[in-house]
Amino acid sequence: MQRRQIFSFAGSAAVALVLGVTTPLAQAQPAAPFKIGFILPMTGQSASTGKQIEGAIKLWQAQNGATVAGRKVEVIIKDDATVPDTTRRIAQEMVVNDKVDVLAGFGITPSAFATAPIATQGKTPMVVTAAATSAITERSPYIVRTSFTLPQVTVPIADWAAKNGIKKVVTFVADYGPGLDAEKFFKSQFQLNGGQIVGEIRSPLRSPDFAPFLQKVADLKPDAVFVFLPSGQGAAFMKQFGERGLDKSGIKLIATGDVTDDDQLNDIGDVALGVVNSHHYSAAHPSALNKKFVAAFEAANKFRPNFMAVAGYDGMRVITKALEATKGQGGGDALLAAMKGQVFESPRGPVLIDAQTRDIVQDIYIRKVERQNGQLYNVEFDVQKAVKDPGKAK
Ligand code: PHB
Repeated sequence: MQRRQIFSFAGSAAVALVLGVTTPLAQAQPAAPFKIGFILPMTGQSASTGKQIEGAIKLWQAQNGATVAGRKVEVIIKDDATVPDTTRRIAQEMVVNDKVDVLAGFGITPSAFATAPIATQGKTPMVVTAAATSAITERSPYIVRTSFTLPQVTVPIADWAAKNGIKKVVTFVADYGPGLDAEKFFKSQFQLNGGQIVGEIRSPLRSPDFAPFLQKVADLKPDAVFVFLPSGQGAAFMKQFGERGLDKSGIKLIATGDVTDDDQLNDIGDVALGVVNSHHYSAAHPSALNKKFVAAFEAANKFRPNFMAVAGYDGMRVITKALEATKGQGGGDALLAAMKGQVFESPRGPVLIDAQTRDIVQDIYIRKVERQNGQLYNVEFDVQKAVKDPGKAK
């Protein structure tokens, strides 16, 4: 599949070369297309992330057209199957062979880490539209992020828990970058607020079996269990939580919104009702812009957008506006400069690309899962405004 796509690009490069030789006036040629190379997990464990972001890219182009400042924008999407070595190989090919102007995507943190050196060497802006470990943006000065960070969404739920009568918590996270960020920042913020951590449990990223971990949570009898699992794993976890009767044990479940993911929420069903969680995007966010976004996304894709879709959509915006700012010229450093400091209204709410950290600053909402018009949604009921990544301050 990937190989066939690479050959087809080699083919179009050959055609361009032939045209170059036979056209006498260089100025008469239209500018070469501006290429954005998205590397996404279209298969494998995080395939839902790829599907969501692909839907968002298509929606952005359908709404805004594929020409920016007179330049045709070509989006190349390649599947890394959620394997970081594959991400790195594709990124290398995209920079060296396809000569992409921007790299984008990155479904999981290890894929973003694997690609960072290639962005630096190629002076190629790398727009992270999914992965959310705090340190990612520090791995290359060419990285800009439109998704979120785990410290950013975790600190607000730790504040909420401490203010709402929860005194003892067990943390339960996926055992890799974003999970370790969630564990660390939940713990420090909750302890700062006088709370107590009575257990710290980590489950493997690949093929997790939640049963033994859930048994441990039940044995520790905390007031609440705080959970982070990456998008795509929430449904399996929540179902097992219900099957083992933990939802009726008096142990509250609190989480980041990755667990009550809009992509899976209706499949999770009633066990999710009442779960309080914190995140930067809900399909039920009540702004006029979001209502339009959700309606258009659902009409185009036949499924509900989640936080990955919004980060992909905003990623397209950040790249497009940067290209406009350079009057269609592009260039790694010029594009990067034009991405820094962008301020705009996203379907999630107001956002800023912090010029110093190249990370996104955004509102973080506290939400509760409720049924509205027969469907489950994360309904926002409180907000911390303009949250910067707390991971950068430490
Ligand atoms: C990540 O690997 O950084 C990641 C993936 C999915 C999420 C959050 C973080 O929902």
